[in-house]
Amino acid sequence: MKIIKYFKLPDGRKLCRMGIGTWGIGGYFMKNKYNDDENDISQIRYQLSKGLNMIDCWNNQADGHTLQLIRKSIENFDRKDYFLICKLDVHKMQSIKEVRTAIDEYLETLNVTKLDAIQVHTPSITEIDMKNLAKELDLAIKNELSDYIAVANFNKDQLNEFQKLLKNKILLNEIQYSVLNKEYQKNVTIDFCKQNNIYVMAYRVLNRGYCGESFEGNKIVEVWKDNKNLTPAQIAFNYVLRDQEMLCWMKSVNRSHINENIGAFDVELKEKEVEMLGQTDKKI
Ligand SMILES: NC(=O)c1ccc[n+]([C@@H]2O[C@H](COP(=O)([O-])OP(=O)(O)OC[C@H]3O[C@@H](n4cnc5c(N)ncnc54)[C@H](OP(=O)(O)O)[C@@H]3O)[C@@H](O)[C@H]2O)c1
Repeated sequence: MKIIKYFKLPDGRKLCRMGIGTWGIGGYFMKNKYNDDENDISQIRYQLSKGLNMIDCWNNQADGHTLQLIRKSIENFDRKDYFLICKLDVHKMQSIKEVRTAIDEYLETLNVTKLDAIQVHTPSITEIDMKNLAKELDLAIKNELSDYIAVANFNKDQLNEFQKLLKNKILLNEIQYSVLNKEYQKNVTIDFCKQNNIYVMAYRVLNRGYCGESFEGNKIVEVWKDNKNLTPAQIAFNYVLRDQEMLCWMKSVNRSHINENIGAFDVELKEKEVEMLGQTDKKI
């Protein structure tokens, strides 16, 4: 099965189905004062040069340091060659004004005049009325502060309700999905997204780098034992990308991991292997 590498967006731009994940780049919640900034920048640039054009941006990570590293990484690239998806932690906000402030901060910190997508990070309880949030996001699109609206961790009902409040269409829903976690498949959110032309973006495809470890129910290792032409990471990515309506995040600051992971586009799982991986249902 030939896996297509890019989606064509409504505005004609190409979006790589493997995006540049950033969790841990510059630090986790707090800035890592021992972080290898030079390496992180160099690996982000390398991924961009390989055509991975979507970058996960989260202002609350590493005390803002991650965004600084992203800004440096993109500075010599043409604006059309990268797609910035920027997370809004609305669950931490008290008023709608903070939404606009966060968008402005992204624009300023990343040194761009427009974001590509603004993303509601989580649908958990917020002080902000969802109707007002939808209005503010639509206004941001109207005012050309962003091209698209996206969400993360929304289930079917939350998507349905939020889409009804928005004038613009939700571009994608980012969810945890992998060989080892099929919760959003079971609760039919993935089916709902497909029926409504909302892309699904999978995160934690590698089980935080532990997809090749032997533990009960890990079919990736079973497949790998019989097929050493692929690595566990390639099996994990290929399984997700076989679904032609899905994108995924790939986070790595290790050059050989990056090359290995990009290689997942070109390998092929046998039907028997896909079937075996489909049986795994172990929520990590
Ligand atoms: N919206 C949300 O709520 C949410 C939540 C979690 C994650 N995300 C996004 O999704 C991205 C991916 O998720 P994740 O980082 O949590 O987990 P992941 O993709 O499952 O795993 C990332 C880890 O795997 C390692 N790795 C990468 N390639 C490898 C390979 N070929 N072999 C062995 N190890 C490998 C990386 O280390 P090296 O850097 O050393 O390669 C990194 O530590 C995040 O970075 C973030 O952008 C979003």
